[in-house]
Amino acid sequence: METKSVVIQARTLKKCIPAFNCPHVPMVKPIAQAIADENSVAMIQVARVEWEKFKAESLERIAEEYFKYRVEGHTLLHLDHIPVIDEDYLEVDYMSLISRALKAGFESVMIDGSRLSLEDNIRVTAEAAALAHEAKVPIEAELGAVMGHENKEMPPYEEIFASKMGFTKLDEAKRFAQESSCDWLPVAVGNIHGQVAEAVRNQKKPEARIDIQHVADLYAAAGIPLVLHGGSGIKYQSVLDAVEAGIAKINVGTEVRQCYEFAMQERPGDIAYAQEKVYLKTRDYIQNYLYNTDLADKIK
Ligand code: 13P
Repeated sequence: METKSVVIQARTLKKCIPAFNCPHVPMVKPIAQAIADENSVAMIQVARVEWEKFKAESLERIAEEYFKYRVEGHTLLHLDHIPVIDEDYLEVDYMSLISRALKAGFESVMIDGSRLSLEDNIRVTAEAAALAHEAKVPIEAELGAVMGHENKEMPPYEEIFASKMGFTKLDEAKRFAQESSCDWLPVAVGNIHGQVAEAVRNQKKPEARIDIQHVADLYAAAGIPLVLHGGSGIKYQSVLDAVEAGIAKINVGTEVRQCYEFAMQERPGDIAYAQEKVYLKTRDYIQNYLYNTDLADKIK
């Protein structure tokens, strides 16, 4: 399977490719198994924040685990959020991380310049895209502000949605897609990330919904597959409608992470028990929330 073509095929089928985050190394195995057992096609991914602030250890460690458990025709390895400016507003050496990921065998990568001005976001994305494309690897790049990673209190969800706070703008999406060379575009359309700050990371996410018309308008403006971050706990119907309107990849982190962590609290040291919980949760997501069972039969 070639990752760029997989996402395009998903879009043509009006389906999405789920991308499951692995902030703990033992999560890789049950997630890969669940994807294969559902006969689905999905990504296993890790973000910088997950080795900095959780227990993913490093991008190389996740790649090593992935290559032990990958299942041909079903799983793909993606590098999630590599911020240019991170959630603590510190500068990151993003080019060296992306270059390490390409060496480690990641099949797609992400650059997140969303805390920069539009011009700077286009510039850094084009720079990272040149590196990824040289290795024949597609790149995802964020535009708009999907809140939740920053170490500060978020405004109430209804206020974010009603005021369209941080939503990706249509004219910017069009320009960004044309000038940055990114292959897929994560957008802000009512979605929020699960919070990662230590004090609040165990909380349940507020249920988000999606401005579907805005997704459709952004897809028409950008003309490339859109990505929905903050996939945990979005209203069920919103997910289905968003996929219909232009979303071809959905990131799922918090709910599967919490499932692993709560199981480890329940039975400290029993990794196999936590892995079983993650396996069941991932299967449930694919079957009942994303409707992606048997996607492998439709994608080459
Ligand atoms: P959630 O943690 O809200 O599922 O979001 C995951 C994500 O978007 C990772 O990039």
